[in-house]
Amino acid sequence: MAYKDVYSAWKSDPEAFWMAAAEAIDWERKPSRALFDEKAPIYEWFSDGLVNTCHNAVDRHVKAGRGAQTAIIYDSPATGAKAKITYAELLEKVSTLAGALAAKGVTKGDRVVIYMPMVPEALVAMLAVTRIGAIHSVVFGGFAANELAVRIDDAQPKAVIAGSCGIEPGRVVAYKPLLDEAIELASHKPEFTVILQRKQLRAELIEGRDHDWEEFVRGAAPADCVPVEGNHPVYILYTSGTTGQPKGVVRHTGGHLVALNWTMKNIYDVDPGDVYWAASDVGWVVGHSYICYGPLVHGNTTVVFEGKPVGTPDAGTFWRVIEEHGVRCLFTAPTAFRAIKREDPGGEFVRKYDLSTLKSLFLAGERADPDTIEWAQEMLGVPVIDHWWQTETGWAIAANPLGIEQLPVKIGSPSVPMPGYDVRILDEGGHEVAPGTLGAIVIRLPLPPGTLPTLWNAEERFRKSYLEHFPGYYETGDAGYVDEDGYLYIMARTDDVINVAGHRLSTGAMEEVLASHPDVAECAVIGVKDRLKGQLPLGFLCLNAGSGRDHADVVAECVQLVRTKIGPVAAFRQAVVVQRLPKTRSGKILRGTMARIADGEPFKMPATIDDPAILDEITEALKALGYPRAD
Ligand code: COA
Ligand code: AMP
Repeated sequence: MAYKDVYSAWKSDPEAFWMAAAEAIDWERKPSRALFDEKAPIYEWFSDGLVNTCHNAVDRHVKAGRGAQTAIIYDSPATGAKAKITYAELLEKVSTLAGALAAKGVTKGDRVVIYMPMVPEALVAMLAVTRIGAIHSVVFGGFAANELAVRIDDAQPKAVIAGSCGIEPGRVVAYKPLLDEAIELASHKPEFTVILQRKQLRAELIEGRDHDWEEFVRGAAPADCVPVEGNHPVYILYTSGTTGQPKGVVRHTGGHLVALNWTMKNIYDVDPGDVYWAASDVGWVVGHSYICYGPLVHGNTTVVFEGKPVGTPDAGTFWRVIEEHGVRCLFTAPTAFRAIKREDPGGEFVRKYDLSTLKSLFLAGERADPDTIEWAQEMLGVPVIDHWWQTETGWAIAANPLGIEQLPVKIGSPSVPMPGYDVRILDEGGHEVAPGTLGAIVIRLPLPPGTLPTLWNAEERFRKSYLEHFPGYYETGDAGYVDEDGYLYIMARTDDVINVAGHRLSTGAMEEVLASHPDVAECAVIGVKDRLKGQLPLGFLCLNAGSGRDHADVVAECVQLVRTKIGPVAAFRQAVVVQRLPKTRSGKILRGTMARIADGEPFKMPATIDDPAILDEITEALKALGYPRAD
């Protein structure tokens, strides 16, 4: 079948389409139907089915006689460690940890926060939690204690599972002191923690609260899978919104299994047994969907890579992993390729390795720039597929579905909507615009299985953030257009979210931190273009009258403050003191205009600007920082 036939088959009968896709999942009790629209515009999928995620990701493959197949390849240039875990071994590890958690009283619906580096135990922890019907919330290791505390307070976990440390180039990041501080800061106190003691840095344990993973699982009776309803949450994943309070994206069990399993063949064109590698982190949605659940549910071998695209030890690391493990499909963020290309523009490292197993490269997480795509195409000689999605959707809204049909690649476009997504472009008044015209990208409700049904304990915020602006549609927060052939182009965010090295960050959250500095009266953070990371945050600070402080000192303190409060991942390194911020007459800060000046792009003087002269001051301040950059 061609893509257009599959898409129209879905469109003409979504119910039949998703019920057929659900056949590939092992249900304890089959759902009577796919869509549950009784609470529209809040939609759910497969709600009356009974199912377990871990059973589908692990047990069923062992039962089918594939226990000896490698489930996880761990490759850690950061530490030099390598390991392979078969599905049978994974089952043993997961059921034992699940048993130990259950013995400590963790039960269906309880939350467990996971704060771990890229080690196989991170996946073991996720699967063990889902095995007993509990709900995990994985927090990315590059976030600071305060961000972890915010998530602990929102998710109210019974337990936290953490690593003692993570390894970053040139330093060991002690996770445990961050966890201790987070628990100190949070009003909610988890009952206990389980700490994976890594040999690079062992953590000090607090008697009675912290348990050493090894001792914790020793002798534990393995736990069976607990079947849960199709609409039972499998996880909560926090992502950046407009404010400092992150959004707890909820994923329901049934739709998650059905959708991810469908994507493995239809989008990524891999078969059970193939090696699939998403070079991301378990702390992000890509890690949830395509390091852990997608490949395992589909019976693939997944790669857990603890390293960076460059510097661990060199720009050939990705190619070495592909050759050594026979990777068929690689998925990463364009930033990783920009970093490799910068170090190895001529592809000397690429030529050192046999990449014949590789059949495709998928890019997502941020805009894929044409230079990077063309370089990757030339170096690898395989289809380079840009695809577009969000934490909220959990899988691609638009892609080039290699397993259905390889459509012509149009560089600059993540191709076409996937079945389940009826994508429209609307103007501010909610009217559809003609092809080629820029507008808000929205998706007609209902969203497909596997996407967010709501935000954790925040249904009002869910409605407000996504459903209210354009009734009947889900607002993606991205702006773009569609061309005559139906290809989508993603141009910019419509909110205060920026994308730094494929990491989604909130400028609003950074502003909240900067505003807490005693000398800062007012501030704004914008995203400026960066050759490597796509965007970087840049702060503007107005100091309190009579502060008298040295500007460089305040800037340095603010940089440190963001690092301490949000984490190194924010990559907040630049700020400048200005007298005033440009605003509209109603007091709205003109962040978009400042960003255009910093990027050297033409801009229209906003009609509602209060005092146009301030833009000259901003231009001068940016010039002093070297903006706009020459390239
Ligand atoms: N734990 C602790 N700290 C972390 C971390 C983690 N898991 N991940 C990143 N950090 C730190 C880094 O050490 C760095 O700290 P520094 O300021 O002391 O140098 C900071 O957070 C910023 O990290 P990053 O944005 O990753 O930049 P980098 O300069 O270390 O590396 C790249 C640049 C391009 C190599 C890197 O961004 C990369 O591999 N990107 C791929 C993108 C990706 O995987 N995205 C996921 C979505 S698909
Ligand atoms: P995240 O929730 O971290 O996955 O970030 C989602 C956001 O990243 C999207 O809303 C887009 O702004 C951006 N994004 C993701 N994939 C792409 C892509 N292929 N092209 C352009 N932007 C993308």
